Amino acid sequence: MDNVTFKTLSLQTQTPKTITHPLNIAVAGTGYVGLVSGVCLAHRGHHVTCVDIDVMKVTMMQQGISPIYEQDLEELMYLNKDRLTYTTDYKSAYKNADAILIGVGTPEQPDGSANLSYIATVARQIAETVEKDCLVVVKSTVPVGTNDKVEQFIEDFLPRDGENDNLGKHKKIKVEVASNPEFLAQGTAVRDTLEAARIIIGTDSKTAEETLMKVYEPFGLPIVSVSRTSAEMIKYSSNDFLALKISYMNDIANLCELVGADIQDVAKGMGFDSRIGSKFLNAGIGYGGSCFPKDTKALDYLAKQNGYELRTVKAAIDVNKDQKILLYRKACQRLITFNGLKVAVLGLTFKPGTDDLREAPSLENVPLLLEQGADIYAYDPVGIDNFKKAFPETGIQNEREYGKGSIKYVESIEEALQGANVCFIFTEWGEVKAVKPDDYKRLMRTPLVYDGRNIYGVEDMKESGVKYYSIGRK
Ligand SMILES: NC(=O)c1ccc[n+]([C@@H]2O[C@H](COP(=O)([O-])OP(=O)(O)OC[C@H]3O[C@@H](n4cnc5c(N)ncnc54)[C@H](O)[C@@H]3O)[C@@H](O)[C@H]2O)c1
Repeated sequence: MDNVTFKTLSLQTQTPKTITHPLNIAVAGTGYVGLVSGVCLAHRGHHVTCVDIDVMKVTMMQQGISPIYEQDLEELMYLNKDRLTYTTDYKSAYKNADAILIGVGTPEQPDGSANLSYIATVARQIAETVEKDCLVVVKSTVPVGTNDKVEQFIEDFLPRDGENDNLGKHKKIKVEVASNPEFLAQGTAVRDTLEAARIIIGTDSKTAEETLMKVYEPFGLPIVSVSRTSAEMIKYSSNDFLALKISYMNDIANLCELVGADIQDVAKGMGFDSRIGSKFLNAGIGYGGSCFPKDTKALDYLAKQNGYELRTVKAAIDVNKDQKILLYRKACQRLITFNGLKVAVLGLTFKPGTDDLREAPSLENVPLLLEQGADIYAYDPVGIDNFKKAFPETGIQNEREYGKGSIKYVESIEEALQGANVCFIFTEWGEVKAVKPDDYKRLMRTPLVYDGRNIYGVEDMKESGVKYYSIGRK
């Protein structure tokens, strides 16, 4: 490990030489939120133990390898290795921690509600383990009211007087729970954490607030302190607002196509208005990832539980569902069949900069193409290993049943495009953006491109002789 050399960090942030209150922090869950938070807290001078139930992940981290792909993460793991421990042994991590951050998943259930079983497991483990007063910080995205429940749950499972009395003379332990929702975006998670626009802390307790101030003091970022319920609501409202913004632009894009307007020009004109802002105005094939899809459904569910219909969020969900297969539908209008066609798929992950595939449009489109008998040649710079778990490589078969497609993963875009009849662009990776319009003309059997990310100028593609379909442009 000591011989490892890293490329220069893209971040200009240094670990402070000393911090006023270095804390012993445990982090439950080492996914995108947990690991990035843990590593950044160590980078800011705290002592952090990262806990996960996944032995393979922990073994990798102990060897200095990040189990997830995030820019700068491995470099920071290395730089702060003296303040970072990785373990599956939650007892050793929780028993003497000043603060325990929970960053486990809260996946969607079939009815749209959030599955809180991972949170409950950690809460119980904490209650049965802690040996001194500590603060539990819920970073996972949880429905309004969950923090109250977590505090009660821990209280219910804390040892009663005389029970499990490891301390000789039993002392009642106080565990408080605060909400501290996370706003990082995958692909820029480290930067988003070290340079967050704001840190939301949700608690009604002075002690909890003071501890959280100590946790975040070395970050030097704006802190917004609110009640637990408001903090929980801030997270969902923010995510759902962004999802709504995306769906709104996609809806407008579809109308642009019908009336002959160009969504990129429309977005440019809108973005100058500071009330609207220029970000999140890009039309495309819908939002994916581990947050927007499940968080919109969870808020919709919460509203229903409270006898309210959240019509705006419901609309965002509906638009997104259709948007994800819009390109496939467009291609079906032009082609008689995909059977036996070579289909190049460029990009599998839900966005560039991550190997995460959760709710990626590729996951919806690839099975449709396979059902139609396409021979898919798929390229992605980092997402292939994860994609293979859902769609194992079949190789390309010469003899096969009608309507049964095949999939082959390729290492270069050129290989995917060579001789292809049609190309779908699902992720705007830098290397995909670098493909020139002429390259499609040169490499493909029939230069027919369906671009879900509006990478190219319509005129440029036309001039190169590429038949080009994108989103919200003629
Ligand atoms: N991914 C994002 O961009 C993002 C951004 C903001 C908020 N969030 C929220 O943060 C939470 C975590 O998301 P994620 O994407 O990091 O999840 P993830 O699925 O990548 O990671 C969760 C980790 O928790 C581990 N785990 C499960 N049970 C455990 C236990 N009892 N003890 C220790 N570890 C355990 C899993 O093995 C896994 O490694 C979710 O609520 C999500 O909505 C995610």
